[in-house]
Amino acid sequence: MKRIGILTSGGDAPGMNAAIRAVVRKSIFDGIEVYGINYGFAGLVAGDIRRLDVADVGDKIQRGGTFLYSARYPEFATEEGQLKGIEQLKKFGIEGLVVIGGDGSYHGAMALTKRGFPAVGIPGTIDNDIPGTDFTIGFDTAINTVLESIDRIRDTATSHVRTFVIEVMGRNAGDIALWAGIASGADQIIVPEEEYDINEVVRKVKEGYESGAKTHHVIVLAEGVMGADEFAAKMKEAGDTSDLRATNIGHVVRGGSPTARDRVLASWMGAHAVDLLKQGIGGVAVGIHNEELVESPILGTAEEGALFSLTEDGKIIVNNPHKARLDFADLNRSLSNLS
Ligand code: F6P
Repeated sequence: MKRIGILTSGGDAPGMNAAIRAVVRKSIFDGIEVYGINYGFAGLVAGDIRRLDVADVGDKIQRGGTFLYSARYPEFATEEGQLKGIEQLKKFGIEGLVVIGGDGSYHGAMALTKRGFPAVGIPGTIDNDIPGTDFTIGFDTAINTVLESIDRIRDTATSHVRTFVIEVMGRNAGDIALWAGIASGADQIIVPEEEYDINEVVRKVKEGYESGAKTHHVIVLAEGVMGADEFAAKMKEAGDTSDLRATNIGHVVRGGSPTARDRVLASWMGAHAVDLLKQGIGGVAVGIHNEELVESPILGTAEEGALFSLTEDGKIIVNNPHKARLDFADLNRSLSNLS
């Protein structure tokens, strides 16, 4: 393979730039030309494509966001979009594509795979919700950003003896809430993967203050459950009498300089993606499992270890969906128990 393309797609994540840098530098080291595609699959279809050189990735490893820009582009699910995208790749002489992104991006990589174009997926999303990897690029930075925010909120919570419901991103996954919740010593963590009882939530708040053990109460709420305002309203309805505030950390969590962990993961996965394409291997996604790089077929059967299968009528089946660490929810219950 003499020429490869690279794009970032979906929600940006800290460390995407480090991954692009690794792909560009490793390719050039291996004698392969790299073309950057702006705005993800939207830019691919539009032909917004340019050659990338070593100088283009200088001073980028420490920067959040993605200098190739990103976009959500559901139109790539259509046959027309896919054929146009492949036509653009061929026009630029691109023989393989690295796709960095989350769920939707993997569907794009799957569509290319189905049409026989070699694509390699790299998991880049703060949500950590991608099958085929223990961790995604951006997750570590995100939980550290959330952690810093919760620590700050706790200062003011303690000063005023207040209860805070803190909503954090994560789409339908509770990973950010679970990891940042444990790290911040949250009193309660509420995630979509687990049932909760609002009366029990309120009881714990009351118990904390009445026992004299608590001068604040922090509830970390994953956005996949509901919004912080709505949750706080439910607590009030259930009889909460504490001085309650609701706050949403929001998009702050998506930005910022990537942690060392995310930069290393991004560099490692980026270079590996180039190695795979160089060997003519496409249709796979790179991941990390038990601290070793792994790759899984993007499309195929569950027995083959493929991430996705397609039914006859074209429905996507996620063979081994990502699972949040619910043992962390148990861990937190044992650490925040007052009785
Ligand atoms: O997938 C990353 C993510 O930040 C999710 O956590 C969140 O639900 C979503 O993207 C927000 O999307 P947008 O930036 O398009 O509002």
